[in-house]
Amino acid sequence: MCARPKRAPFARSTTARVLGYLRATDGYVSGQGISEELGLSRVAVWKHVKTLQAQGCRIDACRHRGYRLIGVPDMPTEDAVGAQLRTRRLGRPLIFFREVDSTNRQLLLRTAAAEEGTALVADFQAAGRGRLGRTWFSPAGANVYLSVLLRPRVGLAQIATLPLVAGCAVARAVAKLAPGVPVRLKWPNDLHVNGRKLGGILCELSAEADEVRHVVVGIGLNVNLRRSRLPAAIARVATSLAIETRHTFSRAEVAAELLNQLEPAYEAWCAERLAPFRTELAALDSLKGKFTRVRQSGRRVVEGVAGGIGADGTLQLRQPDGSLLAVCSGDAHVVPGEAKKKRK
Ligand code: BTN
Repeated sequence: MCARPKRAPFARSTTARVLGYLRATDGYVSGQGISEELGLSRVAVWKHVKTLQAQGCRIDACRHRGYRLIGVPDMPTEDAVGAQLRTRRLGRPLIFFREVDSTNRQLLLRTAAAEEGTALVADFQAAGRGRLGRTWFSPAGANVYLSVLLRPRVGLAQIATLPLVAGCAVARAVAKLAPGVPVRLKWPNDLHVNGRKLGGILCELSAEADEVRHVVVGIGLNVNLRRSRLPAAIARVATSLAIETRHTFSRAEVAAELLNQLEPAYEAWCAERLAPFRTELAALDSLKGKFTRVRQSGRRVVEGVAGGIGADGTLQLRQPDGSLLAVCSGDAHVVPGEAKKKRK
């Protein structure tokens, strides 16, 4: 998809439009009302409602009142996610597993035969992978574990900015699904809400002679996870959309929205790299102005007051002599109280 000419956006299926209309309506809406609004015959409306019911949507059909949406399916199966996709390539095809070791690992095993855009979603990961060799807590029935195969035509040096762009896409999806949740991006690829981790991104790639062959973008987003299910090790540092909003979400809808947001973000990055994201990144940056310590490989630690994300995706750390240190990778943490101490 990368570097190909832009095409017209993928048309939302009529079934998805009927679902969208039902969602936007409180209570019952008559078949006549839907048919006038969407330019469909009443028989067509009825057929699309049947399709939605077959896909797991709970829709009450009442003779004299019309239709009322009671609930959309939660499990992110092919059909449930597919019905809500507005993409041309991402999530086409989408493979669903009830259980995998890791969606990233399974997609990496399929890269030889899989097309760009192929996505793999699971209800449960037995060995979910996190950054820096960590594990990703992946219980069943709670969250979204999604991996997408991309084949950007870029050099290795440029790929480091892709996780930031994926982070923007996830933040856009969260803003759409749960408006008012103050989602932030903690460089390089964590999604945070009020200092607690909502999600993470793990990009795993293969390259040849400095050219990227493929990259699997893995997104883990805590959706309906309840506080009582959080293991002690992450109880104080993790959160979920349900914890933040006290609502539950359809994981099928969340997975679809992640793909719907990731596609245009990826296309913009292919065309112009980080340039279209600079303002958004500055607004999402949770480290800016905070005294930050970054642990890098080989036990190297660098620190300073975070001065934003550079055009090349590096974290800019203000040094005591006023210079800016550009950090390419590592694990960043705010050191509470340090900024004030250093200024004294
Ligand atoms: C992080 O350490 O913050 C990154 C976590 C990434 C987790 C996701 S869940 C879907 C995909 N499959 C994996 O095994 N990991 C990523």
